Amino acid sequence: MLKVEHITAGYGKKLVLTDVSFSVERSDIVLLNGGNGSGKSTVLKTIYGLLKPWASEPKGKVVFEEKEITALPVSAMIRYGIAYMPQKKNVFEDFTVEENLSVSAGIYSKAEAKERKDKTFEILPVLKTMRRRTPFNMSGGERQLLAFGNILIHSPKLALLDEPFAGVDTRNSEILFQCIADLKKKNVTFVIIEHKSQLLESMVNKEIELELGIIKK
Ligand SMILES: Nc1ncnc2c1ncn2[C@@H]1O[C@H](COP(=O)(O)OP(=O)(O)OP(=O)(O)O)[C@@H](O)[C@H]1O
Ligand SMILES: [Mg+2]
Repeated sequence: MLKVEHITAGYGKKLVLTDVSFSVERSDIVLLNGGNGSGKSTVLKTIYGLLKPWASEPKGKVVFEEKEITALPVSAMIRYGIAYMPQKKNVFEDFTVEENLSVSAGIYSKAEAKERKDKTFEILPVLKTMRRRTPFNMSGGERQLLAFGNILIHSPKLALLDEPFAGVDTRNSEILFQCIADLKKKNVTFVIIEHKSQLLESMVNKEIELELGIIKK
């Protein structure tokens, strides 16, 4: 369903990824591994169109369900069914939990937004109990659950998750884990970055290891 082909990319003149290629099948859970600074977050940013692949031969591109989506705007990514949970700055700080979800659902009609919010609260009831709190008054792990809610609201076909378990305690990790497992059963596909890979071991279909921006064979 997703093909990443010959991506060379970086920031300004700084080269980070060199000729990165891999593919993901529907309902796969793919684990993206690698040390700090190896380029994992950069891979997700490039898939989601936040970074444009550099000119290369062969040309770097991202293909989703047979359509080229390289460097498309976020609105198009969401329309295609792709959602992205960034590693940092993944919630709206000044808004309550409920307002966070409303902002994320802002691209839908009022009625649809409400439906999607209700469904997100149903999947993650813990968010409903915190609905009037702002991230400022929430723990790191609680914020991660909200960030996950902010992408769940789009009912994505493909979710790109950058360290969703970072700072999340055992109880909330179980909630997140169960949520991902349930969505996988509904054919949702995941590319996940996670340093403690044993956490996801039972669910993962494929592992990709990056070293200095190159895929280790
Ligand atoms: N906005 C940026 N501007 C310049 N360089 C950046 C930027 N973001 C990341 N880098 C550099 O790109 C390289 C890869 O960073 P990236 O964030 O993809 O690593 P990572 O594998 O996600 O690491 P971590 O496990 O620490 O999250 C690093 O050398 C980093 O310093
Ligand atoms: Mg990272």
